[in-house]
Amino acid sequence: MKIITGISNMQSFADSLRSQGRTIGFVPTMGFLHDGHVSLMGRARQSCDIVVASIFVNPTQFGPREDFSRYPRDVEGDRKKCEAAGVDVLFMPAAAEMYPEKPSVFVVVEGLSDVLEGAIRPGHFRGVATVVAKLFSIVKPHKAFFGQKDYQQCAVIKGMVKGLNLDVEIVVMPIVREKDGLAMSSRNSYLNVDERRKAAKSAR
Ligand SMILES: Nc1ncnc2c1ncn2[C@@H]1O[C@H](COP(=O)(O)OP(=O)(O)OP(=O)(O)O)[C@@H](O)[C@H]1O
Ligand SMILES: [Mg+2]
Repeated sequence: MKIITGISNMQSFADSLRSQGRTIGFVPTMGFLHDGHVSLMGRARQSCDIVVASIFVNPTQFGPREDFSRYPRDVEGDRKKCEAAGVDVLFMPAAAEMYPEKPSVFVVVEGLSDVLEGAIRPGHFRGVATVVAKLFSIVKPHKAFFGQKDYQQCAVIKGMVKGLNLDVEIVVMPIVREKDGLAMSSRNSYLNVDERRKAAKSAR
């Protein structure tokens, strides 16, 4: 597995794959990987020649009082999971290269981004759409894989692709759950035993 951190290195690698006629499948993540992420990688492995996964904890999708600074991280564990899932390229850009200055360019999917989760997390889906648009123009995928657990996120990404005529196919994959029914999520690691039990109960 190749690890790429530089944006222009990723772009030229994507260009060389495309010029060889190889299809690129892309799985964007924020890391601290679990079997939900692995299922997306597995589908990408089946349907594309080259699988690129990214790990980037995107600061612009976190609100000022959210958990950006304590978001869980495990680069070594993630590297092993990607390798085992058959990922060809792990792209891990630095925040300083993704956002060298305070961002002034955004992608906004109006309406959809402002309801449901968007209503209580102002700016969240603007941050998501913007970083996914940036990642698409760096990784240059033919297909990109997202989880239905984040249903509104899938709708926002599809809206962005349609509205900007992006040449990427969006594939939505089913929710992978723990044995007790709770949807897998990196942030489940925040839950104590009692909260974890309650969460599983409300998932049933
Ligand atoms: N349980 C799951 N089943 C299927 N796909 C998932 C699951 N959890 C996350 N994904 C998908 O993996 C991709 C990357 O998500 P992300 O890295 O934010 O993980 P996460 O578990 O959702 O993290 P968080 O707990 O912070 O929300 C997204 O497309 C997301 O929908
Ligand atoms: Mg998530």
